[in-house]
Amino acid sequence: MSKRPPELAVEGLTKVFPGTRALDDLSMSVEPGEVHAVLGENGAGKTTLLMILSGVYAPDSGRVLVRGEEVSFARAQDAQAAGIGTVFQEFSLVGRLTVAENVFASHLPTRWLGVLDRRRMAREARELLRTLGSELRPDRSVASLDVGERQLVEIAKALSLRASVLLLDEPTSALSAEEAATLFEVLRRLREQGIAIVFVSHRLAEVFEIADRITVLRDGRLVDTRRRDEITPDDAVRLMVGRELSVLYPGRTEETGPARLEVRGLRSGPVGPVDLVVHAGEIVGVAGLRGSGRSRLVRAIVGAERRDAGEILVDGSAVRIDRPWQAVGRGIAFVPAGRMEEALFPRMSLARNLVSTCLGLVTRLGIVRAAAERRLAERLVRRLGVRARDVEQLVQTLSGGNQQKAVLAKWLALEPRVLVVDEPTQGIDVGAKAEIHAILRELAEGGLAVLMISSELPELLGMCDRVLVMANGRVRGALRAEEATEEQVLALAAGTAGEEAA
Ligand SMILES: Nc1ncnc2c1ncn2[C@@H]1O[C@H](COP(=O)(O)OP(=O)(O)OP(=O)(O)O)[C@@H](O)[C@H]1O
Ligand SMILES: [Mg+2]
Repeated sequence: MSKRPPELAVEGLTKVFPGTRALDDLSMSVEPGEVHAVLGENGAGKTTLLMILSGVYAPDSGRVLVRGEEVSFARAQDAQAAGIGTVFQEFSLVGRLTVAENVFASHLPTRWLGVLDRRRMAREARELLRTLGSELRPDRSVASLDVGERQLVEIAKALSLRASVLLLDEPTSALSAEEAATLFEVLRRLREQGIAIVFVSHRLAEVFEIADRITVLRDGRLVDTRRRDEITPDDAVRLMVGRELSVLYPGRTEETGPARLEVRGLRSGPVGPVDLVVHAGEIVGVAGLRGSGRSRLVRAIVGAERRDAGEILVDGSAVRIDRPWQAVGRGIAFVPAGRMEEALFPRMSLARNLVSTCLGLVTRLGIVRAAAERRLAERLVRRLGVRARDVEQLVQTLSGGNQQKAVLAKWLALEPRVLVVDEPTQGIDVGAKAEIHAILRELAEGGLAVLMISSELPELLGMCDRVLVMANGRVRGALRAEEATEEQVLALAAGTAGEEAA
């Protein structure tokens, strides 16, 4: 028996928000050198727990102990001073600052007389990023980074405080498989150094890869804490959702209709030329490593990126789309990756966000009719199973996964013919994921053409009819998802397999 107290412990922690008991009498501990995963459905209280541990929220009751000593954090800096570093679910970086400035934002290194030591800052930032397996230049502005690179900067920032506890809230949801593997190497090194790590993720496979112990929360309460070898992924799902969950992926559409979306000779910067067709009733996935051009491709299709050449056809007619709002008018709805930043108005109600794409339906003479807005919003909330107190709740107070559902719901309000989705289930719990998969399939069966990007290969293969694999800006192959294996996709994505047609 070790005499050493846990690095971090909570006892009887309770946090109440208006209308929600986000945490309810929660007790758990994290040992030094342990990766402790926290699992739970969207809204289970995972982020709230991390917010309390990092000094952002004060608990209503209960205690937090660091190495056996009770602590009380008035501000985030107090938690940092106690050695708790956090990587939040929503990014906290400042776009107009550089990578190095962001990493050291809370404790800029200075020389005598308080002069900022830029050279040291750049050097230390570079070293930190290297330990994360990244060659990112410290002088780049964060605004110019893609979402994966930003996540790495977030992690470097949390590590820069020489933390003995590292809290990670869905750190891989924006990372590719190989970036996640790099992160896990880093986490293993940190674990060997005795750092206590709390790891929140909806990706069960990676939880079972990295965690030493797993705690499951439901409705803010502890369901169980188990050693990894005492729990299976199926057990974890059952504990999380409180019921058996067998079907992760719906069946496939029997017959597809005519070509609904056609892309011919599309070029956008380094991407292209690309030709592709998505038929009515079909779900086509786009796979590829980071930098393969898959995001750029779909963004160029919907007018969110400049197009240098090529034609877009919807239902056989060429359409002009230079801006995303034009795509909407042509029946193409685009759900971008990432939640709050691009897709929602965080300080507005859920209802207003949901109707924002189709204000025409609920306004008369330019005035929003509250009853119509509420009716439409409630219908969408029911359809997608968004969990909210009511439709007047501010979007920024919804849990992360429910924000993602809100984004999808708001685009469905438009009743599009083509749905383009980038990482539609990022940050979504297993139960809700299965619901979203079913919704996407149902939309396809109703005649929609769906084009989707996902970094999760099992999801692409489980969901899609065909998967296009991109590498270096080109489509390297198209596979029938039902028959394809992850290895085939990865080989094409890495450029080690020849062209293949489906
Ligand atoms: N600032 C807030 N005001 C009101 N309610 C809140 C606030 N923050 C969180 N909640 C509510 O508390 C509950 C727990 O939310 P939390 O963000 O901790 O969930 P989570 O487990 O992290 O979910 P997800 O997997 O979706 O990220 C939810 O019902 C959420 O709507
Ligand atoms: Mg969360």
